[in-house]
Amino acid sequence: MNIGIIGTGVVGQTLGTGLAAKGHSVKIGSREPQSEKLQEWQNQAGPNSSTGTLEETARFGDLIILATNWHGTENALALAGPDNLAGKVVIDTTNPLTFGAEGPSLGVGFSDSAGEQVQRILPESRVVKALNIVSAFMMLDPNALGETPDMFIAGNDAGAKKEVTTFLEGFGWPVIDLGGIQEARLIEAIAMVWVKYYFSVRNEGRHAFKLIR
Ligand SMILES: NC(=O)c1ccc[n+]([C@@H]2O[C@H](COP(=O)([O-])OP(=O)(O)OC[C@H]3O[C@@H](n4cnc5c(N)ncnc54)[C@H](OP(=O)(O)O)[C@@H]3O)[C@@H](O)[C@H]2O)c1
Repeated sequence: MNIGIIGTGVVGQTLGTGLAAKGHSVKIGSREPQSEKLQEWQNQAGPNSSTGTLEETARFGDLIILATNWHGTENALALAGPDNLAGKVVIDTTNPLTFGAEGPSLGVGFSDSAGEQVQRILPESRVVKALNIVSAFMMLDPNALGETPDMFIAGNDAGAKKEVTTFLEGFGWPVIDLGGIQEARLIEAIAMVWVKYYFSVRNEGRHAFKLIR
């Protein structure tokens, strides 16, 4: 599958490397696709990997993974071009964090979410919130901590959620569908529990969630 990744931080690079290693063709999109950072990434990610502008990446991907800093998300999607993403499944990994004196907190919540905003920016795309509640290193390796946690997803398009579920199950994720994209409010709040535990208790990110029933 051709996978376009929008965002070049630890999430974009880790997913890019892992998905290329699994045989997918991966293009990672950036405002600076020729940067030294991305050339280094491409060298280690190997022959299935490439870099491009955000627009090239949006055109390239049959599946799109959004992995932008929240504050740059709207700009990144404008540069990618919503028309280039029309009809496509977009996995939204973002968390709408703001950083203040008290540390990180949710900048969007209660009556809106990053997932809903992304869906509004991309009205013709099929947005699925997923992967935002774990560290990048676990996104393709759910068994990394020795037990298998769960992955919550949300989105309006049943077919898109089915595709994303199959994609995630392929890596070993048990997937729990919480409903429409408005449930991203809850999933982003769960991510905040993850962030709080990271910054206030453990100072590292090797933890994840499991729904016991
Ligand atoms: N880090 C994790 O383990 C983790 C886990 C779960 C969820 N998340 C969420 O996943 C997302 C990505 O996190 P990250 O840590 O990988 O990356 P990040 O460092 O927060 O940023 C990712 C990329 O966003 C792009 N960006 C930033 N400002 C922009 C702007 N004004 N316009 C366009 N693009 C802009 C940059 O790409 P270019 O400079 O190349 O254009 C940057 O490399 C975040 O929303 C984060 O909350 C992270």
